[in-house]
Amino acid sequence: MFHWLEKNPFAFAVVVIVTIAFAGLVEIVPHFAQQARPVIGTTPYTTLELAGRHVYIKNSCNACHSQLIRPFKSETDRYGHYSLSGEYAYDRPFLWGSKRTGPDLMRVGNYRTTDWHENHMKDPASVVPGSIMPAYTWMFTNEADIDTAYAEQVTVADFFGVPYNEPIPMKDGSTKIIKMGSDVAEARAMALAEAKLIAQDMKDQDVKDAVANGKIPEIVAIIAYMNGLH
Ligand code: HEC
Repeated sequence: MFHWLEKNPFAFAVVVIVTIAFAGLVEIVPHFAQQARPVIGTTPYTTLELAGRHVYIKNSCNACHSQLIRPFKSETDRYGHYSLSGEYAYDRPFLWGSKRTGPDLMRVGNYRTTDWHENHMKDPASVVPGSIMPAYTWMFTNEADIDTAYAEQVTVADFFGVPYNEPIPMKDGSTKIIKMGSDVAEARAMALAEAKLIAQDMKDQDVKDAVANGKIPEIVAIIAYMNGLH
């Protein structure tokens, strides 16, 4: 059927160029779409979780911890399903990491709890004997920066079309809405409400008192972030 093409070098060259150019476009053009293409069940971060993510970056947790589970049995047995690119749809910047002094944290929310993190961040070796992870005691007194997290939501997240206040499809067929405050006062109030639920499960009295007085210590924000890593 295509014998005529093989006998006509000029037409053959044209068809080859058109075919390769088309294949190139198919690969390249989708990347110009600014919208994220998330895996079903991937939700954007709440303001408190985002503030916790900032604490994570500020303290260079990613220097010792990866957030990328490779498709090997040894990894999936330990951490759960290997990572999919669409699960990072709302991660800016990515925190894949390149070094694992400690374990991967991609799905740490599935198997560690608020009180476990509280004890661990205060004194890692008291929870995991022989741990070389440093203690992060200042997080119990430093205040989390909710305003910057909110600023990121309304600028960066808005630019990339992150679906706040919209139904997001979940794996079981239901939908979930992640709310974003309409102004910074509402964002602070929503973050505080979320922080109160976490402080309930903590035992540090100073942290509980701070949250009761409307303040959010960094430890509460970073625990919110880690609890949300699934
Ligand atoms: C100097 C390297 C280092 C740094 C920096 C570091 N960690 Fe770790 N982390 C470790 C090591 C080693 C372990 C394993 C021992 C343990 O559980 O304490 C660990 C364990 C953990 C675990 C338990 C994970 C599991 O599956 O049991 C969590 C959660 C964690 N780190 C969170 C953090 C957070 C949050 C930060 C930043 C505030 C941080 N780490 C900074 C080295 C580090």
